Amino acid sequence: MKQMQRVSVRPRGRENYEIEIGANALDSVGRVARHTLAPHARRIVVVSNARVFSLYGAGVVRDLRAAGFNISHWLMGEGERHKNLRTAERALAFFSACKLERTDAVVALGGGVVGDLAGFAAAVYLRGIPFLQVPTTLLAQIDASVGGKTAVNTRDGKNLIGAFHQPRAVVISTETLSTLPPRELTAGWCEAIKQGAVGSRRLFEQTRRFLIAERMNETARSLERTHGRADELAGLIAAQCSFKAKIVADDEREDVGRTDARSRRILNFGHTAAHALEAITRYRRFRHGEAVGYGMLVAAEISQRLGMLDASELESLRVCVRLAGRLPRADDLDERALLRSIASDKKSVGGHVRWVLLERIGRARIVSGEQIPPRVVRCALRAALAANSGDKSEGN
Ligand code: NAD
Ligand code: GLY
Repeated sequence: MKQMQRVSVRPRGRENYEIEIGANALDSVGRVARHTLAPHARRIVVVSNARVFSLYGAGVVRDLRAAGFNISHWLMGEGERHKNLRTAERALAFFSACKLERTDAVVALGGGVVGDLAGFAAAVYLRGIPFLQVPTTLLAQIDASVGGKTAVNTRDGKNLIGAFHQPRAVVISTETLSTLPPRELTAGWCEAIKQGAVGSRRLFEQTRRFLIAERMNETARSLERTHGRADELAGLIAAQCSFKAKIVADDEREDVGRTDARSRRILNFGHTAAHALEAITRYRRFRHGEAVGYGMLVAAEISQRLGMLDASELESLRVCVRLAGRLPRADDLDERALLRSIASDKKSVGGHVRWVLLERIGRARIVSGEQIPPRVVRCALRAALAANSGDKSEGN
């Protein structure tokens, strides 16, 4: 029996909730739902997509039924392009058809796309009903399922419509990662490196050590191997969730006035350049986490050029991003288009980009774009995009 790890999230002024992490945690979804929902909760809609549901849906549905719930499931299309208002409207119509009541619930079973969409639908249905996150990608397990950001995309950009709606619980089964495509793992690892880089050297080192061992086992990417390191993986995911939980507890709404090293904004490390990389390639070349891999390097190159970050720290970050896996090529992209896109970052404040930079591994500093000479950004971009483009392979 593998150990179950637990992390509490305590957003100020809101109900606390628990994250349960373990190799076979999917078997706990029914128990967790029974424990966290109101005693008279009867119906649950499981929102997922066809791929994830075909792998894990039957077990989750069986477990929820055994806990006494009346279960229906609703499947959305796969991929970011389905994370929109039209899909949310369809989900809401399904909730109505199932006659979900205020105390009933939604279970989001899937990656960040499913979690964001299902969470958003749960946030607005009857002005908010409970939902549980059952994330099945690494990125969703360490980041997207924790913290209550839910959203859909519009034609104008990603996550432009959304709500803060905390889940009642998060159930993380590391076993689900055994079916995840390698690129999705790389994307998740980049976000894990990000959290270590801005949060704590210890978390960064724990992530780096896990990745080194992972690369040593590269040829044996099998279920058996994943299980062999299940406790270590669960421990690392718990440490990642615990870091995110602390940030969320203190700054749930990402207060725009905050610029300190513990504000939620620091989680945007690497995202200014990442959003630009994704936008100019029309979201087709990079998985979001892969773009964050490059984005972190851009921010760290800027930090080093401003004299804020030691060269050895920049090198540690470079090495760690390499350990996360191969990134799609980026050194062929139009530099001017990238710089234009960076300048129009949606997280700007008062018309200026707010860069999340690094003072050292484990400590971020938020700096207004006004204070960074354009030449520095240009050179940093060039250096960072060349750094991981060695194999010239394009993602698809
Ligand atoms: P995703 O949800 O698109 O999942 C990636 C792919 O993996 C999909 O094709 C999915 O069907 C498949 N998949 C999922 N689980 C699987 C499994 N166990 N086995 C096999 N295939 C599986 O991508 P993602 O990286 O999980 O999430 C990205 C989304 O998360 C973006 O929309 C982003 O905006 C959002 N996000 C939200 C937050 C937040 O705080 N709410 C934070 C970070 C990212
Ligand atoms: N992923 C960034 C945040 O949750 O704030």
